[in-house]
Amino acid sequence: LLPDLGSYTAEAPSNIALVKYWGKYGEQLPKNTSISYTLDNCKTKTEVVLKKRIEADDQFHFEVYLDGDLKPAFKSKIETFLKRIETYTPFLKSFEFEIHTKNTFPHSSGIASSASGMAALSKCFMAMENSVKPELTDEFLAQKTSFLARLGSGSACRSTGAKLVVWGKHEDIEGSSSFFGIDYPHEVHPNFRAFQDSILLIDEGQKQVSSSIGHDLMHGHPFAEQRFQQADDNISKLKSILSSGNFDEFFALVESEALSLHAMMMTSSPYFILMKPNTLEVINKIWELRRSEEVQIGFTLDAGANVHLLYPNTSSARVRKFITEDLIQFCQGDKVIHDQIQF
Ligand code: PMV
Repeated sequence: LLPDLGSYTAEAPSNIALVKYWGKYGEQLPKNTSISYTLDNCKTKTEVVLKKRIEADDQFHFEVYLDGDLKPAFKSKIETFLKRIETYTPFLKSFEFEIHTKNTFPHSSGIASSASGMAALSKCFMAMENSVKPELTDEFLAQKTSFLARLGSGSACRSTGAKLVVWGKHEDIEGSSSFFGIDYPHEVHPNFRAFQDSILLIDEGQKQVSSSIGHDLMHGHPFAEQRFQQADDNISKLKSILSSGNFDEFFALVESEALSLHAMMMTSSPYFILMKPNTLEVINKIWELRRSEEVQIGFTLDAGANVHLLYPNTSSARVRKFITEDLIQFCQGDKVIHDQIQF
């Protein structure tokens, strides 16, 4: 039974990890458990158009468009993804199709679109499957969507559903799995249910190191085992912080995670420094503000130079002033993207 010709659409948000995923094995399985907040505004919107039924051969027949323009350069990454999910989405080879995608955030702003992009595409594929199998339960759909997204980009499995998502089997997290992300199942204090994330664009250039190269560098890394253990310990610590509502402990853990991720890259072979001088300027300013005025604010980083400023709504007025007066000078083209997490 094949889905009807026509258009299948979905959107998926970006996410920002509090405990980082860095290091994988096998079929995109994580070496440690990670947890992320799902952003409200930075999203990818994708439409898959099934144009024509064909006799299945050993090829995928598709094109990729970004903002309406044909993007042959994106094809190989998506083709790798399609091959990985082929056994779970066997209908795809029976169609000629087009993938149309756009992001609500500026392209090549340094914000990774792979998580939201792979999540949105996985949702489209599941919409096709669901169209011929209406009996599928919400739980099955949620798990399989995240499972597929993981095979596109590991962190994408944390962008297919809930607002606070755990990926990776962990004894302290009920129902956790290395195969898909789950809605964080334990108590979350109201302090951590409404957060702002202002993304300071320090460097808009191409990423110096792709995350797949980064993950590979954890093989044979001298500190790999300690790092995986640290991350898993941090999940347990974060669990009690999330229920207690303690901001100081939260920011200490989240900042340490970001710096540990960067420390792994500085100590791998070959080594990389992904921060820029302005990243450090911003971090020092944040610490200064926190020390001198006791403002609730902290930062995290992805595998790049941009800084995510995290703060509760109660700090908003002070932090917005802080950004325009003290931080904007360190951003490329004065660019800041204000996003938030609410649940
Ligand atoms: O999903 P990937 O393979 O692009 O890995 C992303 C890894 C980090 O963004 C650096 C951390 C994380 O957990 O999101």
